[in-house]
Amino acid sequence: MTDRYAVFGNPIGHSKSPRIHAAFAEQTGESLRYEAIEAPRSDFAGAWRAFVAAGGKGANVTVPFKQEAFALAEVLSPRARLAGAVNTLMVGRDGRLYGDTTDGVGLVRDLEAHAAPLRSARVLLLGAGGASRGVIEPLLEAGAGSLTIANRTVAKAEELAVLFAGKGEVSGCGFDDVAGPFDLVINATSASLTGDLPPLPDDLFAADGLAYDMMYAAEPTVFLRWAAERGARTVDGLGMLIEQAAESFWLWRQVRPETAPLREILRREL
Ligand code: ATR
Repeated sequence: MTDRYAVFGNPIGHSKSPRIHAAFAEQTGESLRYEAIEAPRSDFAGAWRAFVAAGGKGANVTVPFKQEAFALAEVLSPRARLAGAVNTLMVGRDGRLYGDTTDGVGLVRDLEAHAAPLRSARVLLLGAGGASRGVIEPLLEAGAGSLTIANRTVAKAEELAVLFAGKGEVSGCGFDDVAGPFDLVINATSASLTGDLPPLPDDLFAADGLAYDMMYAAEPTVFLRWAAERGARTVDGLGMLIEQAAESFWLWRQVRPETAPLREILRREL
């Protein structure tokens, strides 16, 4: 029987994950099926159990179920525990449910693919929700010299800074207190979804500074347009999506797909 995988979310209609994993399977010669499952908002656990009963081996988990997947997993990876979220589930050989998160490593791999400044870099992270929390430790491990977390609700940025204080030079503040220059500015707010731009100073970027938006669309996001006008190099989150998928694929199959060809293909399809 072909191994089954899926992405769980709500809504899930526009997910690119089935497309990405089908391409990975074809490229690596792995025999698997990967589908999109819209779980009811009130019963993620039930949808997951039904999937496993039907032969499901693993899944990606997206909005709004990453915290529920975290709660459901019987064994958590250290990085999932730190992120407080799970985006990858797998049924182990021992029958236990393993939870991991590949979002942080996905971001770092994509930054490296774009030759982003990371080692000793002054990094500004915009937002203090789940998307931010999941990337803090990977950014510090990749060598960020300092990490400033800025958020509309200042207390949330300060809480995250305290949580990760032992891992590196981390501070939290509001947008009003942001003082550049930064080598790397990452937008992990959901502001791009509504076309909003966090209020930021004009002199945010160092020379050769890079602006990264975790969101992506056919057209540059408001944040990336704003950054380009201020001289920054810009990268959107399409590559992060592909890299986190590749890491999940590796966890399930112990085979690492190539990501660069798919980046080009998906970009053309946006
Ligand atoms: P996610 O898991 O995607 O991070 P989230 O936990 O809802 O989602 O967090 C959304 C983030 O985007 C938060 O940092 C939020 O700021 P608040 O904590 O102040 O709510 C931020 N955000 C959302 N809309 C925003 C906007 N219009 N301007 C600035 N920040 C915004």
